[in-house]
Amino acid sequence: MTRGGPHERLYDSVSSFLGKKTLPKIPKKWEKFSDIAILPSGSFEGEDWDDLISPALWKAVAEGLDVERLGIMGEVTGKTRKSGARMLRGEDDWVVRRENGVDYGYHLTKCMFSAGNVNERRRMGEIVERGEVVVDLFSGIGYYSLPIMVHSEVEHVHCCEWNDDAIKSLEWGLKRNGISSGFTIHRGDNRETCMSIRKVAHRVIMGLLPTSEDSFEAAMEVLSDSGGVIHIHGLARPGGYSEWGEGVLRKLCHFREGSGAEIIAVNRIKSYAPRWDHIVLDVRIN
Ligand SMILES: C[S@@+](CC[C@H](N)C(=O)[O-])C[C@H]1O[C@@H](n2cnc3c(N)ncnc32)[C@H](O)[C@@H]1O
Repeated sequence: MTRGGPHERLYDSVSSFLGKKTLPKIPKKWEKFSDIAILPSGSFEGEDWDDLISPALWKAVAEGLDVERLGIMGEVTGKTRKSGARMLRGEDDWVVRRENGVDYGYHLTKCMFSAGNVNERRRMGEIVERGEVVVDLFSGIGYYSLPIMVHSEVEHVHCCEWNDDAIKSLEWGLKRNGISSGFTIHRGDNRETCMSIRKVAHRVIMGLLPTSEDSFEAAMEVLSDSGGVIHIHGLARPGGYSEWGEGVLRKLCHFREGSGAEIIAVNRIKSYAPRWDHIVLDVRIN
């Protein structure tokens, strides 16, 4: 007999496949959308599972979760923020997520997508005012650029990105969401491409972890002479947000002598690691 909740259904499917009533630890959480479930990193790992891992086990897991395909998260690494995710069942790693009325498409094993940043993606779509020019210095697959173009009356979005896989996804996302004008994709290192965007931005987005410090000069370069707002993502200790923010302000101002800068908001996005939070600092530069 199949029991009620999703966790019980997964347990029952795996337990009936293995012919065992008692199982080693199985995941309690996963992301599920369209025909795929993505397990958290470390799921079905450890010596209790080592001898049990097989395509047939993944089939039982997929059946328990009522999906066709199964992926598992990995560690996001490197300068192009490669996802580290792997497919466990199904060859095709292309996924489409619909969130806040925006479709994002990407190869799961090539590009990252942090479900925990959902509120920030929504906020970016809401905060941009009519007629603004936005520079997204780390646009990736369009995490922030797409909701801005779909939901605001932005004048133009400059998307900077150096990972070809991310750019392909961004182009797919623009088409899929019906956006055919009002953007420019700048392929390459934003510290160089910023030189062709100079002094136009009312708003700059710096969504790179663990830090975007190497591109602070580029942010100041693209910002309009009359100033604007910069959204800077980073990692800070709980209780240490102000100290982190003050440090960021000092470093930013170093690249624009005589400018005034003030922190207008600090938002916690999620816990990133034990005692490290992913936060976003909104800074106004005059
Ligand atoms: C994946 S997003 C980050 C999303 C999310 N905020 C996070 O870091 O968890 C960052 C993107 O910036 C790109 N990137 C990093 N450094 C860059 C640079 N100097 N110039 C252009 N793109 C860069 C990476 O390729 C990546 O696609």
